[in-house]
Amino acid sequence: MSLAHDLEALAIDIAQDAGALARSRRAEGVDIAATKSALADIVTLADREVEALVRARLAEARPDDGFLGEETGAERGSSDVTWVIDPIDGTVNYAYGIPQYAVSVAAVIGEPAPELWEAVAAAVYAPATGELFHASRGGGAWLGDRRIEVNAEVGPAGALLATGFGYDPATHAGDLARVARVMPMSRDLRRAGAASLDLAYVAAGRLDGYFERGLAPWDHAAGALLVTEAGGSFEFVAGDDAQPRPLVVASSPVIFDRLLTAALDGED
Ligand code: IPD
Repeated sequence: MSLAHDLEALAIDIAQDAGALARSRRAEGVDIAATKSALADIVTLADREVEALVRARLAEARPDDGFLGEETGAERGSSDVTWVIDPIDGTVNYAYGIPQYAVSVAAVIGEPAPELWEAVAAAVYAPATGELFHASRGGGAWLGDRRIEVNAEVGPAGALLATGFGYDPATHAGDLARVARVMPMSRDLRRAGAASLDLAYVAAGRLDGYFERGLAPWDHAAGALLVTEAGGSFEFVAGDDAQPRPLVVASSPVIFDRLLTAALDGED
């Protein structure tokens, strides 16, 4: 078995255990532990507990690897591998009792920054539905034991797209202007609230494309590999002085150039 395949198996195992914990904590009721970057950006006690479980499992199984997690930050390892973790992606959904949330686990190689790393293994597990999306570099993308692929064509009505909005109210006008630019190519738009699942849905052909400015690395690390292993296109455009929030665009190859251009056009 290849290293990527071994890492995928571990990612699946840990994501499922972490997801079971998230689901049982959800059933017991959710406590908001703190707000983070903005009032709308919350962390629950379950986010912290789930990340602690993931971190402990990784420390036991792969003690030399690095770690980058939403709740506990970064720790460099001595191996080439870093694990990039969102313990509960879709935290606001989770807090409100909306089932669209997931544990996102990715193993990446190289410098632990999205513009530099190469993702090699991924698992996105949605505990409320039991759906497990997983991939390894060169090994394809899967929903459970079924191979998935992005949509090869987009119908005349246009693309079914998804996006997300930043937590900081100051970013909303820019996000809405981007939506307005993209709408002419879209039959409809979804804002489901969990980026890792948006990307997994692009990989599975449930969406034709997805775009968002301001994602954190743990929101897209696993989903990006799902998309590319499913035959899709993915681009991470790093932030700069004019536009500090990075842009993520993922889609079926047939609409990718148009979607990327629309998402970028009109920005400084
Ligand atoms: C958020 C979700 C959401 C996206 C936000 C993310 P979190 O992650 O993925 O869909 O629009 O940009 O921050 O905070 O729930 O882990």
